[in-house]
Amino acid sequence: MGIHVNEEQQLFHLQTAKTSYIFKILENGQAGQLYYGPKIPVKKDYQNLASREEHDCTNTLTVDQGDFQLELIKQEYAGLGKGDYRYPAYQITYPNGSRISEFAYTGYKLAKGKKRLGDLPSTFDDRGDDAQTLTVRFKDELANVRLDLHYTVFEKEDVIVRSATFTNHGEPITLNRALSAQLDLPDSDYDLLQFSGTWARERHLIRTHLRSGVQSISSLRDASSHQQNPFFILARPHTDNNQGAAFGFNFIYSGNFLDSVEVDQFDTTRVLVGINPDEFGWRLDNGDSFQTPEAVMTYTDQGLNQLSQQLGSFYADHLINPHFAHEERPILINNWEATFMDFNEAKLMPIVKKAHELGIEMFVLDDGWFGHRDNDRSSLGDWFVDQKKFTNGISGFAKKVHEQGLKFGLWFEPEMISIDSKLYEKHPDWMISTPGRQSTPARNQYVLDMTRPEVVDYLVDHISAIIKQTKLDYIKWDMNRNITEMYGSKLGADRQLEFAHRYILGVYQLYSRLTNAFPKVLFESCASGGGRFDLGMMYYAPQAWCSDDTDAVERIKIQDGTSYGYTPSMWGAHVSAVPNDQVGRLTSIETRAAVAYFGDFGYELDITKLPADQLATIKKQVAFYKQYRHLFQQGTFYRLENPDTASQNVYGWQVVSADKTEAVAARFQILNGANPAYIRFYFQGLDPDKTYTVNGGKEKFSGAELMHVGYFVPRIMDRTKPEKDPSDFSAHLFVVKEA
Ligand code: GLA
Repeated sequence: MGIHVNEEQQLFHLQTAKTSYIFKILENGQAGQLYYGPKIPVKKDYQNLASREEHDCTNTLTVDQGDFQLELIKQEYAGLGKGDYRYPAYQITYPNGSRISEFAYTGYKLAKGKKRLGDLPSTFDDRGDDAQTLTVRFKDELANVRLDLHYTVFEKEDVIVRSATFTNHGEPITLNRALSAQLDLPDSDYDLLQFSGTWARERHLIRTHLRSGVQSISSLRDASSHQQNPFFILARPHTDNNQGAAFGFNFIYSGNFLDSVEVDQFDTTRVLVGINPDEFGWRLDNGDSFQTPEAVMTYTDQGLNQLSQQLGSFYADHLINPHFAHEERPILINNWEATFMDFNEAKLMPIVKKAHELGIEMFVLDDGWFGHRDNDRSSLGDWFVDQKKFTNGISGFAKKVHEQGLKFGLWFEPEMISIDSKLYEKHPDWMISTPGRQSTPARNQYVLDMTRPEVVDYLVDHISAIIKQTKLDYIKWDMNRNITEMYGSKLGADRQLEFAHRYILGVYQLYSRLTNAFPKVLFESCASGGGRFDLGMMYYAPQAWCSDDTDAVERIKIQDGTSYGYTPSMWGAHVSAVPNDQVGRLTSIETRAAVAYFGDFGYELDITKLPADQLATIKKQVAFYKQYRHLFQQGTFYRLENPDTASQNVYGWQVVSADKTEAVAARFQILNGANPAYIRFYFQGLDPDKTYTVNGGKEKFSGAELMHVGYFVPRIMDRTKPEKDPSDFSAHLFVVKEA
């Protein structure tokens, strides 16, 4: 059993396979955090962990059992205003304007399994045999408000999922702050690993040592954003990919978030994960509840690869839609970088036919097929086909694609509206704007008010009709701008701070209705590339377009950063044309494919314009990916170089089968150097006692040898044909098989 409750001591010990998480009810009835780290035995009480000294510098709370000082205590879910001066997990404003709460423990409930949350994406244990859920209940007597803290233990994966519910049984109140998880750690000797960037440069790893004060990662764009990702790690300073202790935190949410790490005056560390309290406020009338999204926490003392792997298997079994979690995803060709919006059926059909010849499995028609959209100034919201481009309608084109034996996918940007659209003519008030203020377009477009049920209904109807007409297999759901002039014309003045969250609930509502109605349609989320790459989206759309930057070298950095918190089956990765559209770089088609193999593989270039030798190469690449797709998408992923060295010039990735009988690895070297040292490539995750071959060679190696002695990599430049073999941006691929 994963959760141990000592009722007498009011002590809760949550155990996973390798970790312990312990908290207890304090003298004033709130919960105090005792420990999170490597598993320790269950004991009746942990006096030593709970002990504390009084300090002179702060205020003291006197209760029946004695005095204590909140500021010096590690807490489970703290408020502000009673002597803990650190940033709180929640704050409530009561009818008289006061903001002091006193939640005291009233009991707990233990349940098998993990139920899904109603309106929010969430973790689950549908079979009810993998997880255990603890709800610890508190009440503020004076205000008659209840607080439930939920903890689900996923034992096998060493993951704990947390959230909170507030329920009001008293006078109307306002929740000003309601984060999902708080974790107080006893010291601050950690590095913060965050994944930051911008459009076309998402999720680059930044590692800094914690310092006194608050350091945070956040978004106020009402999207998880290109700029910051909700996933972050706290690692001991010497932790690297292969060894060392680290906590990982993620958030199952796609809107404004806050990850805050506060190091206080005594070098204790407080972690908060949740909805950003800025631009948030939620009125709770008598009988109303507010459920926070879920936060995911994990710990390992086995290095960052292990941390990523335990999260990866957790997502596959308890977050991703089970229809797709273990399904092989199709190899697709997307027409965006081949044609942009300049296409019609006649121009696309040769691409479709050629794709079929090459073994590609799905054709995805990107932006520009609807309304009269020849550029980005019109038609968003008009989800009906442009008859000029498709004289047989979209269903006629879809039929032809299907007849070629390919699946068919379509691009939508459901949440958006163009001023030049039929939708705007009919419903100008559906566009988000603030009365009397100028609206600011981005990419010439505006955002629909997803808090309004009629908007969601309209989108369900129109998108469903297209899905049915085309027997659609896949949807790329894009979202190309963030929200400005936030205002809900149907929300009262006192509810405007609910808008940002209600918008995201509207998006989830649309996702939920479409994915339930069409369970076989594969969704890929996108937001100008990876601008909404988060677990909230992944719950509905099991893969996301990783970045609009398809340059192989830039993609190495992006995919490497992404891999810390997500797994390759979660990101789309395509081979595009050179010179690359985003950076103008020339890389070989082999390097471009080697990078894109590690992900949901595809092509995004005009294959009707390529020379025969490149087409022959693509055919082989497609066959290669099909042969090892189960490894690339479902294998265990390793980063083979450590962050400090990887940021220089060399990256290595590997995927291994669960039974360790086969693996594929790649070594990427960005720039070549003159007269290089011998290169050895060290594999990981193999069975030391198994015997393997590499790339079909005759020599046999033990797994131990490949992991510890390494494998010799020949010089990158073949001096006999230097002009044919550009030496920069090289990729070496290794297929390892049990002999
Ligand atoms: C975004 C996406 C691209 C493409 C375009 C279409 O930028 O990230 O992949 O779909 O929109 O407008």
